[in-house]
Amino acid sequence: MCGIVGYVGSQQALGIVIEGLRRMEYRGYDSAGIAVVDRSGADARLAGAKKAGKLANLEKELDVRPLPASTTGLGHTRWATHGGPTDANAHPHFSESAGVYTDLTGKVAVIHNGIIENFARLKAELAAENVTFLSETDTEVVAHLLARDFAEAGDGDLGAAMRRVVNRLQGAFTLVAVHADAPDVVVGARRNSPLVIGVGQGEAFLASDVSAFIAHTREAIEMGQDQVAEIFRDGSVRITTFDGQVVEGKRFHVSWDASAAEKGGYDWFMQKEIAEQPQAVADTLLGRVNGQGRLKLDEMRLSEDELRAITKIIVVACGTAYHAGLIAKYAIEHWTRVPVEVELASEFRYRDPILTKDTLVIAISQSGETMDTLMAIRHAREQHSRVLAICNTNGSTIPRESDAVVYTHGGPEIGVASTKAFLTQLTACYLVGLYLAQVRGVKFNDEVEEVLTQLSDSPAAIAETLNRMEPIRKLARSMVGARTVLFLGRHVGYPMALEGALKLKELAYIHAEGFAAGELKHGPIALIEQDLPVVVVVPSPKRPLLHDKIVSNIQEIRARGAKTIVIAEDGDDVVAPYADFLFHVPELPILLQPLVATVPLQVFAAELADALGYDVDQPRNLAKSVTVE
Ligand code: F6R
Repeated sequence: MCGIVGYVGSQQALGIVIEGLRRMEYRGYDSAGIAVVDRSGADARLAGAKKAGKLANLEKELDVRPLPASTTGLGHTRWATHGGPTDANAHPHFSESAGVYTDLTGKVAVIHNGIIENFARLKAELAAENVTFLSETDTEVVAHLLARDFAEAGDGDLGAAMRRVVNRLQGAFTLVAVHADAPDVVVGARRNSPLVIGVGQGEAFLASDVSAFIAHTREAIEMGQDQVAEIFRDGSVRITTFDGQVVEGKRFHVSWDASAAEKGGYDWFMQKEIAEQPQAVADTLLGRVNGQGRLKLDEMRLSEDELRAITKIIVVACGTAYHAGLIAKYAIEHWTRVPVEVELASEFRYRDPILTKDTLVIAISQSGETMDTLMAIRHAREQHSRVLAICNTNGSTIPRESDAVVYTHGGPEIGVASTKAFLTQLTACYLVGLYLAQVRGVKFNDEVEEVLTQLSDSPAAIAETLNRMEPIRKLARSMVGARTVLFLGRHVGYPMALEGALKLKELAYIHAEGFAAGELKHGPIALIEQDLPVVVVVPSPKRPLLHDKIVSNIQEIRARGAKTIVIAEDGDDVVAPYADFLFHVPELPILLQPLVATVPLQVFAAELADALGYDVDQPRNLAKSVTVE
């Protein structure tokens, strides 16, 4: 949510910052802006540009009014919180502006991700000093505070000024700032929002995530909570706490390269990410299954005694990750006999959940930065529960604040709608469930060993599903007139129905709802009318009780005029007479079926969105990493 990039070094900042913004545009695309320190005249000054809408609008503006050459700069791509998506509210915010962006009188430019909760009080204080505000944002107060503090101190130390300012702020924020009178440094601060440092040869970067600088360096430093980073022109870095104590950041090497963050011949990132799912699942399994039906989860960081003591599991997550949690409940309870609750992270801490030291909270998050999930785990830890993160982003906040972590190895997911993250989250949940069963000795028998083998074979089944996708594409493209689509399922098919509906809503802006098929008769069946498309995920005929029930449900809706789009297992011919459209997926045990049966739902939503002319990778109003509550 909001992408931030700062650069100082010997290269031209403009190109590097724009390229970084392009890679981070998935984090927000309501507006974009840039500022550079112009040292061409006698006095250094700032130059900048900002535009509502996508990055392309800013690039057009820069074509018309180019910025001066500069080797120090910052840029921002915004997901609007305070103030609508206008040019004026776009970041950077300047401490003063002549209104002509290439001739700024202000000395400070600030970009921000998060919300400054006490901004109204600070704004009133500044207004009393006759400061004029040009935007409705909370961020602008920081630009003025920083300019005032830097000028008053008179020591030319932008890092020190930032430390004094952040100590006055409440809320969640990442801030990055430049000052015309300190042209060799870019300063960043972080509280509850992501910020990572990239270390190059004679250059350095600050960014919301590593994808912004991956084309220039794969060496990075994690920033902790409540820290300020100063990056200098020679590539050196200084990190301090908000109180000024120097700290050592944790260095890490990024395992993927720039090509992983590019489209590589696909039309959209989402298309590429759907295609990458067999590999992503295989990578998540890699090194964790030893071939003799045993699991190794060395990075788990919870002892076997601690795992044996668990009496209850609560999964907390949002959106698609929450749907992965719902599926995990079926699997983990079945394999371990430990009760599992699944809770929307945004609701968790407000309902006074019952947590003890023997409760294991599993937080599922692709980004590792989702604020709702972060707040949920903080609450759990305050109540002395153990927290296990399932996460795709190395070094992000949620795993850092958890007792244990199992990383999904999905690689970067740029499309805003989650696809490969979902399948890898499921895979990690299965691994955790099976590992718990192994450690606790519950039901660790032939069934579990067999599931491990089938899980190891699942990448091939996912690849096979992808090979069959053409009819789904055609079907989706024939449905541009649909106004409502319903999704039904039983058992793990129910969360899959929720996920299918979410994908369609967020990508194609079509009203869609997922229901447990058994619930239909308790109300939703009233929605069925002539030609209403209903997607049904059918469990394996090897589960005859479930299968028979859903076949009855399909007949009930067909009798009322619904057009049925049925996802069923290979060889399931029983359901064929009741399907207006039938798609077969390879056979897997029911608990693993989501690994294959979700794929047509993803492709269906993406193709329909594309046929409607929408931007598949950047759906309206959304952002990839939601760092506000
Ligand atoms: C939907 C989607 C979102 C995310 C949710 C959680 O396609 O991507 O619903 O799943 O915002 O994000 P993470 O997993 O980063 O915590």
